[in-house]
Amino acid sequence: MNRTDVFRQLIGDRTRAPAKSTGRGVAPANIALCKYWGKRDDALNLPVTASLSISLGPLGTETEVSVSPAGDTVTLNGASVPADAPFARRLLSYLEDALGPERPRLQVATRNSIPTAAGLASSASGFAALVRALDDLFDWRLDHRSLSILARLGSGSAARSLFHGFVEWHAGARADGMDSFAERLPVEWPDFRVGLLTVSAKPKEIGSRDAMKRTVRTSPLYAAWPEKVAADLETVRDAIAARDFDALGRAAESNALTMHATSLGAWPPVLFWLPESVERMRQVWSRRADGWPVYFTMDAGPNLKLIFLARHEASVAAAFPDLAVVAPFGG
Ligand code: PMV
Repeated sequence: MNRTDVFRQLIGDRTRAPAKSTGRGVAPANIALCKYWGKRDDALNLPVTASLSISLGPLGTETEVSVSPAGDTVTLNGASVPADAPFARRLLSYLEDALGPERPRLQVATRNSIPTAAGLASSASGFAALVRALDDLFDWRLDHRSLSILARLGSGSAARSLFHGFVEWHAGARADGMDSFAERLPVEWPDFRVGLLTVSAKPKEIGSRDAMKRTVRTSPLYAAWPEKVAADLETVRDAIAARDFDALGRAAESNALTMHATSLGAWPPVLFWLPESVERMRQVWSRRADGWPVYFTMDAGPNLKLIFLARHEASVAAAFPDLAVVAPFGG
Protein backbone atom coordinates (compact mmCIF):
# COMPACT_ATOMS: atom_id res chain seq x y z
CA MET A 1 0.00 0.00 0.00
CA ASN A 2 1.37 3.45 -0.90
CA ARG A 3 -0.02 6.94 -0.39
CA THR A 4 -1.57 7.09 -3.87
CA ASP A 5 -3.74 4.09 -2.88
CA VAL A 6 -4.95 5.96 0.21
CA PHE A 7 -5.77 9.05 -1.86
CA ARG A 8 -7.75 6.94 -4.33
CA GLN A 9 -9.71 5.40 -1.44
CA LEU A 10 -10.65 8.79 -0.02
CA ILE A 11 -11.11 11.03 -3.07
CA GLY A 12 -11.30 8.66 -6.04
CA ASP A 13 -10.52 10.52 -9.26
CA ARG A 14 -11.84 13.91 -8.13
CA THR A 15 -8.41 15.39 -8.83
CA ARG A 16 -8.66 16.79 -12.34
CA ALA A 17 -11.30 19.50 -12.30
CA PRO A 18 -10.84 22.23 -9.69
CA ALA A 19 -14.10 23.80 -8.51
CA LYS A 20 -12.56 27.28 -8.44
CA SER A 21 -9.33 29.00 -9.47
CA THR A 22 -7.82 29.27 -5.97
CA GLY A 23 -8.17 27.14 -2.84
CA ARG A 24 -7.11 28.37 0.60
CA GLY A 25 -6.18 26.61 3.82
CA VAL A 26 -4.80 27.57 7.20
CA ALA A 27 -3.51 25.32 9.99
CA PRO A 28 -1.82 25.79 13.35
CA ALA A 29 1.60 24.44 14.26
CA ASN A 30 1.57 21.90 17.05
CA ILE A 31 3.95 20.83 19.80
CA ALA A 32 3.77 17.25 21.04
CA LEU A 33 3.49 16.78 24.80
CA CYS A 34 3.74 13.04 24.22
CA LYS A 35 5.87 12.49 21.14
CA TYR A 36 5.46 10.60 17.89
CA TRP A 37 8.82 8.88 17.48
CA GLY A 38 9.10 5.88 15.15
CA LYS A 39 7.01 4.52 12.29
CA ARG A 40 5.50 1.13 11.69
CA ASP A 41 5.08 2.06 8.00
CA ASP A 42 7.44 4.52 6.31
CA ALA A 43 5.39 5.12 3.17
CA LEU A 44 2.16 6.01 5.01
CA ASN A 45 3.75 7.64 8.08
CA LEU A 46 2.00 5.18 10.37
CA PRO A 47 3.29 5.58 13.92
CA VAL A 48 4.40 2.93 16.37
CA THR A 49 2.52 4.74 19.16
CA ALA A 50 -0.20 7.32 19.65
CA SER A 51 0.84 10.91 20.47
CA LEU A 52 -0.73 14.01 21.98
CA SER A 53 -0.08 17.67 21.20
CA ILE A 54 -1.09 21.25 21.83
CA SER A 55 -1.73 23.45 18.79
CA LEU A 56 -0.22 26.92 18.70
CA GLY A 57 -3.36 28.93 17.96
CA PRO A 58 -2.51 31.70 15.49
CA LEU A 59 1.02 30.41 14.72
CA GLY A 60 1.14 28.16 11.71
CA THR A 61 0.78 28.11 7.94
CA GLU A 62 -1.48 29.74 5.38
CA THR A 63 -1.48 28.19 1.90
CA GLU A 64 -3.06 29.15 -1.41
CA VAL A 65 -3.22 26.70 -4.30
CA SER A 66 -4.11 28.21 -7.69
CA VAL A 67 -4.46 26.71 -11.12
CA SER A 68 -1.35 27.65 -13.10
CA PRO A 69 -1.49 26.55 -16.77
CA ALA A 70 2.14 27.64 -17.28
CA GLY A 71 3.39 24.96 -14.86
CA ASP A 72 3.98 24.23 -11.19
CA THR A 73 5.46 26.98 -9.05
CA VAL A 74 6.17 27.14 -5.34
CA THR A 75 6.65 30.21 -3.17
CA LEU A 76 7.53 30.33 0.53
CA ASN A 77 6.89 33.54 2.46
CA GLY A 78 6.67 35.41 -0.85
CA ALA A 79 9.97 34.13 -2.31
CA SER A 80 10.02 31.71 -5.20
CA VAL A 81 11.47 28.26 -4.38
CA PRO A 82 13.41 26.36 -7.09
CA ALA A 83 11.71 23.10 -8.09
CA ASP A 84 14.78 21.09 -7.06
CA ALA A 85 15.01 22.56 -3.53
CA PRO A 86 14.08 20.00 -0.81
CA PHE A 87 11.01 22.04 0.25
CA ALA A 88 9.56 22.12 -3.31
CA ARG A 89 10.54 18.53 -4.10
CA ARG A 90 8.70 17.23 -1.04
CA LEU A 91 5.63 19.31 -1.81
CA LEU A 92 5.49 18.48 -5.53
CA SER A 93 6.02 14.77 -4.91
CA TYR A 94 3.05 14.89 -2.51
CA LEU A 95 0.88 16.61 -5.17
CA GLU A 96 1.98 14.03 -7.75
CA ASP A 97 1.02 11.12 -5.48
CA ALA A 98 -2.18 12.80 -4.34
CA LEU A 99 -3.54 14.05 -7.63
CA GLY A 100 -1.95 11.78 -10.24
CA PRO A 101 -0.18 12.55 -13.54
CA GLU A 102 -3.17 14.22 -15.19
CA ARG A 103 -3.58 16.76 -12.46
CA PRO A 104 -3.77 20.48 -13.27
CA ARG A 105 -0.48 22.38 -12.83
CA LEU A 106 -0.57 24.45 -9.65
CA GLN A 107 0.90 27.50 -8.04
CA VAL A 108 1.41 26.83 -4.34
CA ALA A 109 1.96 29.89 -2.17
CA THR A 110 2.85 29.12 1.45
CA ARG A 111 3.28 31.56 4.31
CA ASN A 112 4.62 30.43 7.65
CA SER A 113 4.32 32.49 10.78
CA ILE A 114 6.93 30.21 12.41
CA PRO A 115 10.56 29.65 11.33
CA THR A 116 10.71 26.90 8.70
CA ALA A 117 12.80 23.84 9.66
CA ALA A 118 13.78 25.28 13.04
CA GLY A 119 12.22 22.34 14.84
CA LEU A 120 8.97 24.22 15.29
CA ALA A 121 6.91 21.75 13.32
CA SER A 122 6.46 23.86 10.18
CA SER A 123 6.04 20.72 8.05
CA ALA A 124 3.10 19.77 10.27
CA SER A 125 1.15 22.99 9.76
CA GLY A 126 2.41 23.08 6.15
CA PHE A 127 0.87 19.79 5.08
CA ALA A 128 -2.29 20.39 7.11
CA ALA A 129 -2.79 23.78 5.41
CA LEU A 130 -2.02 22.26 1.99
CA VAL A 131 -4.63 19.53 2.45
CA ARG A 132 -7.21 22.12 3.50
CA ALA A 133 -6.34 24.25 0.45
CA LEU A 134 -6.69 21.25 -1.89
CA ASP A 135 -10.01 20.31 -0.26
CA ASP A 136 -11.18 23.87 -0.96
CA LEU A 137 -9.80 23.97 -4.52
CA PHE A 138 -11.42 20.67 -5.58
CA ASP A 139 -14.43 21.02 -3.28
CA TRP A 140 -13.91 17.53 -1.83
CA ARG A 141 -15.72 18.43 1.43
CA LEU A 142 -13.84 15.73 3.33
CA ASP A 143 -14.57 15.17 7.01
CA HIS A 144 -11.95 15.90 9.69
CA ARG A 145 -10.84 12.32 9.95
CA SER A 146 -10.09 12.05 6.23
CA LEU A 147 -8.30 15.41 6.18
CA SER A 148 -6.14 14.25 9.10
CA ILE A 149 -5.28 11.01 7.27
CA LEU A 150 -4.31 12.91 4.10
CA ALA A 151 -2.17 15.39 6.06
CA ARG A 152 -0.39 12.46 7.77
CA LEU A 153 0.72 11.22 4.35
CA GLY A 154 2.76 14.44 3.98
CA SER A 155 4.25 14.51 7.49
CA GLY A 156 3.20 12.37 10.44
CA SER A 157 2.74 15.21 12.88
CA ALA A 158 0.58 17.06 10.29
CA ALA A 159 -2.25 14.67 11.23
CA ARG A 160 -2.52 16.69 14.48
CA SER A 161 -2.31 20.15 12.87
CA LEU A 162 -5.87 19.97 11.51
CA PHE A 163 -7.16 20.92 14.94
CA HIS A 164 -6.79 23.55 17.64
CA GLY A 165 -6.32 22.85 21.35
CA PHE A 166 -5.17 19.50 22.73
CA VAL A 167 -5.10 16.84 20.03
CA GLU A 168 -4.56 13.09 20.18
CA TRP A 169 -3.36 11.13 17.16
CA HIS A 170 -4.49 7.50 17.43
CA ALA A 171 -1.80 5.05 16.33
CA GLY A 172 -4.30 2.71 14.66
CA ALA A 173 -3.55 -0.90 13.75
CA ARG A 174 -4.70 -1.26 10.15
CA ALA A 175 -2.21 -1.66 7.31
CA ASP A 176 -4.01 1.00 5.23
CA GLY A 177 -3.90 3.49 8.16
CA MET A 178 -7.60 4.34 7.96
CA ASP A 179 -7.71 4.16 11.78
CA SER A 180 -4.61 6.36 12.25
CA PHE A 181 -5.96 9.91 12.51
CA ALA A 182 -6.08 12.73 15.04
CA GLU A 183 -8.94 14.21 17.05
CA ARG A 184 -9.33 17.23 19.25
CA LEU A 185 -9.82 16.59 22.97
CA PRO A 186 -12.99 18.33 24.21
CA VAL A 187 -11.07 20.58 26.62
CA GLU A 188 -10.51 24.33 26.93
CA TRP A 189 -7.69 25.52 29.18
CA PRO A 190 -7.51 29.30 28.60
CA ASP A 191 -4.62 29.74 31.10
CA PHE A 192 -2.34 27.29 29.31
CA ARG A 193 0.76 28.90 27.77
CA VAL A 194 3.51 27.72 25.44
CA GLY A 195 6.75 29.68 25.17
CA LEU A 196 9.03 29.22 22.18
CA LEU A 197 12.68 29.54 23.04
CA THR A 198 14.72 29.60 19.85
CA VAL A 199 18.30 28.54 20.48
CA SER A 200 19.17 28.31 16.78
CA ALA A 201 17.04 29.01 13.69
CA LYS A 202 19.49 27.22 11.39
CA PRO A 203 18.16 24.21 9.48
CA LYS A 204 18.85 21.08 11.49
CA GLU A 205 21.63 18.66 10.57
CA ILE A 206 19.34 15.64 10.42
CA GLY A 207 15.60 15.70 9.82
CA SER A 208 13.07 13.91 12.00
CA ARG A 209 12.36 11.35 9.27
CA ASP A 210 15.95 10.05 9.09
CA ALA A 211 16.57 10.44 12.80
CA MET A 212 13.57 8.36 13.81
CA LYS A 213 14.36 5.70 11.23
CA ARG A 214 17.93 5.37 12.50
CA THR A 215 16.74 5.28 16.11
CA VAL A 216 14.16 2.54 15.46
CA ARG A 217 16.72 0.48 13.56
CA THR A 218 19.80 0.84 15.72
CA SER A 219 19.01 2.11 19.22
CA PRO A 220 18.72 -0.59 21.89
CA LEU A 221 16.80 1.97 23.95
CA TYR A 222 13.94 2.14 21.44
CA ALA A 223 12.45 -1.08 22.88
CA ALA A 224 11.49 0.85 26.01
CA TRP A 225 9.74 3.65 24.09
CA PRO A 226 6.24 2.21 23.41
CA GLU A 227 5.72 1.38 27.08
CA LYS A 228 6.94 4.82 28.13
CA VAL A 229 4.51 6.50 25.72
CA ALA A 230 1.59 4.37 26.88
CA ALA A 231 2.20 5.42 30.50
CA ASP A 232 2.82 9.11 29.65
CA LEU A 233 -0.26 9.32 27.42
CA GLU A 234 -2.46 8.16 30.24
CA THR A 235 -0.88 10.63 32.65
CA VAL A 236 -1.14 13.51 30.18
CA ARG A 237 -4.79 12.75 29.35
CA ASP A 238 -5.73 12.52 33.03
CA ALA A 239 -3.74 15.65 33.90
CA ILE A 240 -5.48 17.64 31.15
CA ALA A 241 -8.90 16.44 32.30
CA ALA A 242 -8.08 17.35 35.93
CA ARG A 243 -6.23 20.60 34.98
CA ASP A 244 -3.28 19.21 36.98
CA PHE A 245 -0.54 21.32 35.46
CA ASP A 246 2.39 19.79 37.38
CA ALA A 247 1.44 16.23 36.47
CA LEU A 248 1.16 17.29 32.83
CA GLY A 249 4.48 19.15 32.87
CA ARG A 250 6.38 16.28 34.50
CA ALA A 251 5.06 13.73 32.01
CA ALA A 252 5.68 15.98 28.98
CA GLU A 253 9.25 16.87 29.97
CA SER A 254 10.13 13.30 30.85
CA ASN A 255 8.61 12.06 27.59
CA ALA A 256 10.73 14.50 25.54
CA LEU A 257 13.95 13.64 27.38
CA THR A 258 13.30 9.93 26.92
CA MET A 259 12.74 10.46 23.20
CA HIS A 260 16.10 12.23 22.98
CA ALA A 261 17.72 9.44 25.00
CA THR A 262 16.54 6.82 22.49
CA SER A 263 18.25 8.85 19.73
CA LEU A 264 21.50 9.07 21.66
CA GLY A 265 21.53 5.29 21.72
CA ALA A 266 21.36 5.14 17.91
CA TRP A 267 24.41 4.59 15.74
CA PRO A 268 25.68 6.90 14.39
CA PRO A 269 24.36 8.80 17.41
CA VAL A 270 21.73 11.50 16.97
CA LEU A 271 22.07 14.51 19.26
CA PHE A 272 19.85 17.51 18.50
CA TRP A 273 21.07 19.67 21.39
CA LEU A 274 23.52 22.55 21.26
CA PRO A 275 25.38 23.70 24.38
CA GLU A 276 22.83 26.54 24.68
CA SER A 277 19.98 23.98 24.73
CA VAL A 278 21.48 22.35 27.81
CA GLU A 279 22.07 25.74 29.40
CA ARG A 280 18.37 26.56 28.94
CA MET A 281 17.27 23.21 30.35
CA ARG A 282 19.33 23.88 33.48
CA GLN A 283 17.78 27.33 33.71
CA VAL A 284 14.29 25.77 33.65
CA TRP A 285 15.31 23.26 36.32
CA SER A 286 16.70 25.95 38.57
CA ARG A 287 13.48 27.99 38.21
CA ARG A 288 11.57 24.89 39.19
CA ALA A 289 13.81 24.42 42.21
CA ASP A 290 12.71 27.95 43.18
CA GLY A 291 9.11 26.75 43.06
CA TRP A 292 8.01 27.94 39.60
CA PRO A 293 5.79 25.48 37.72
CA VAL A 294 7.56 25.69 34.35
CA TYR A 295 8.51 22.68 32.20
CA PHE A 296 10.06 22.18 28.77
CA THR A 297 9.68 19.91 25.80
CA MET A 298 11.95 19.56 22.74
CA ASP A 299 11.54 18.10 19.28
CA ALA A 300 14.00 17.09 16.58
CA GLY A 301 16.07 20.25 16.97
CA PRO A 302 17.95 22.38 19.51
CA ASN A 303 15.06 24.67 20.54
CA LEU A 304 13.04 24.46 23.74
CA LYS A 305 9.32 24.93 24.16
CA LEU A 306 8.31 25.94 27.67
CA ILE A 307 4.92 25.25 29.16
CA PHE A 308 3.49 27.23 32.07
CA LEU A 309 0.27 28.92 33.20
CA ALA A 310 -0.95 32.49 32.63
CA ARG A 311 -0.35 33.52 36.25
CA HIS A 312 3.39 32.86 35.80
CA GLU A 313 3.66 34.43 32.34
CA ALA A 314 5.20 37.72 33.48
CA SER A 315 7.90 36.07 35.60
CA VAL A 316 8.73 33.39 32.99
CA ALA A 317 8.93 36.04 30.25
CA ALA A 318 11.24 38.14 32.44
CA ALA A 319 13.53 35.17 33.11
CA PHE A 320 13.63 34.23 29.40
CA PRO A 321 13.63 37.60 27.60
CA ASP A 322 13.65 36.12 24.08
CA LEU A 323 10.62 33.90 24.74
CA ALA A 324 7.74 34.05 22.24
CA VAL A 325 4.61 33.33 24.27
CA VAL A 326 1.57 31.69 22.69
CA ALA A 327 -1.90 31.40 24.25
CA PRO A 328 -3.27 28.28 22.48
CA PHE A 329 -6.86 28.95 23.64
CA GLY A 330 -6.76 32.66 23.01
CA GLY A 331 -6.00 33.45 26.68
O1 PMV B 1 6.09 14.77 11.42
P1 PMV B 1 7.56 14.64 11.45
O2 PMV B 1 8.07 13.59 10.53
O3 PMV B 1 8.27 15.94 11.27
O4 PMV B 1 7.98 14.12 12.93
C1 PMV B 1 7.80 14.88 14.08
C2 PMV B 1 8.55 14.31 15.22
C3 PMV B 1 8.61 15.13 16.48
O5 PMV B 1 8.38 16.49 16.23
C4 PMV B 1 9.99 15.00 17.07
C5 PMV B 1 7.63 14.63 17.54
C6 PMV B 1 6.17 14.99 17.34
O6 PMV B 1 5.34 14.21 17.80
O7 PMV B 1 5.87 16.03 16.75
